[in-house]
Amino acid sequence: MVSGVEDRDEDENPQKSEDFVVTPWTVKGEVDYEKLVEEFGTSPITPEIIETFQRLTGEIHPFLRRRIFYSHRDLDDILKRYESGEPFFLYTGRGPSGGVHLGHLIPWIFTKYLQDKFGAELYFQMTNDEKYFTSDKLSLEKTSELAEENTLDLIAIGFDPKKTFVFTDTGYMKTLYEIGAKIAKHTTFSTAKAVFGFENSTSIGMIFFPAIQAAVSFLPSVLKGYNIPCLIPAAIDQDPYWRGIAREVAPKLGFYKPAQMHSKFMPGLGQGGKMSASQPETAIFTTDSQGVVEKKIRSSFTGGRDTLEEQRLLGGRADICPVYHYYYFLFESDDLELKRIYDDCTSGQLLCGDCKLMLASRVKNFVATHARKREDAKEHLDEFIVEDLSGGLTKRSERKNP
Ligand code: TRP
Repeated sequence: MVSGVEDRDEDENPQKSEDFVVTPWTVKGEVDYEKLVEEFGTSPITPEIIETFQRLTGEIHPFLRRRIFYSHRDLDDILKRYESGEPFFLYTGRGPSGGVHLGHLIPWIFTKYLQDKFGAELYFQMTNDEKYFTSDKLSLEKTSELAEENTLDLIAIGFDPKKTFVFTDTGYMKTLYEIGAKIAKHTTFSTAKAVFGFENSTSIGMIFFPAIQAAVSFLPSVLKGYNIPCLIPAAIDQDPYWRGIAREVAPKLGFYKPAQMHSKFMPGLGQGGKMSASQPETAIFTTDSQGVVEKKIRSSFTGGRDTLEEQRLLGGRADICPVYHYYYFLFESDDLELKRIYDDCTSGQLLCGDCKLMLASRVKNFVATHARKREDAKEHLDEFIVEDLSGGLTKRSERKNP
């Protein structure tokens, strides 16, 4: 638990609805995504925006077609700027608190797609400090080690090393702090409290941290000396950082407000709820063995009926079935095929056992391929990671040329 973050007073929590909670640290219950758009004040990704994507890329990515990326801020503006010759950069990140699971890969896969289609640079933040501040158990050394482990998963997605810059907060703090300090100066405690629900018992590391997550929105503009628009693809729980901090201070510091694209959460294999590392039996990790993947999927909750007769008569409930959602998110990109699975399920023709078997074979394939790429990535870490010139007591005269 975060001191004073996760166990805060519910009435003071601005992102709380009657039956679900979405904050950067907690996602609970059945998320009503349309309601979140209203509560957070974001905009839905409209058919017009999707048309713009189609015009620019010649296609519509399944994540857009299926509204997995469904909400945004200023996406229309940033695409307009791109069309008129002003390129953007991409920014996303990861809190390294454990292994990477399929749910984490959703924004990364889409970010890689955007990098390919728009030729954009990616700045990727590993918040080893944040995960240290918010955990009772993890040491800073551990979150730093996990950051490197997680970077292997990121590299396995296929990002272009020439256009991708990965860093941990502690490893790049000199550079980040110069921006973070300016953001912090313009952000009051009462704003941070209102946005994140911080309390007197919250560690002061965590109270300052949002300035560091916001800082990356302006990093390339500072490094290159001119303003570059920023597009952040991320799960919607990260919105408070941009809504409450980065977009508030951007005009004061003379930067563009960062634009965003928000994704939904991939569900876990249990009944309801997102895929979560805290319920490992319902999450597929990239390092799970083939046997473990198979077992997790076989034990998954489904929308199936209690008996074969009922299933044949009434059909399955695909809408509440994680197995179906896995096809929807990642394991059946063809819309007609997906519809066939849906129809066969709901008409009682496709039984859960067979449906699970077909999914297990696809997920095992995916995980095996990813694991191979992840292994190869070990040779390439240095091509992706940037850090401040370090060296403890190394004098400038002794420092090797970068
Ligand atoms: N706070 C995020 C997490 O806990 C990590 C993160 C940092 C991030 N910068 C980001 C996520 C930008 C999305 C976009 O996972």
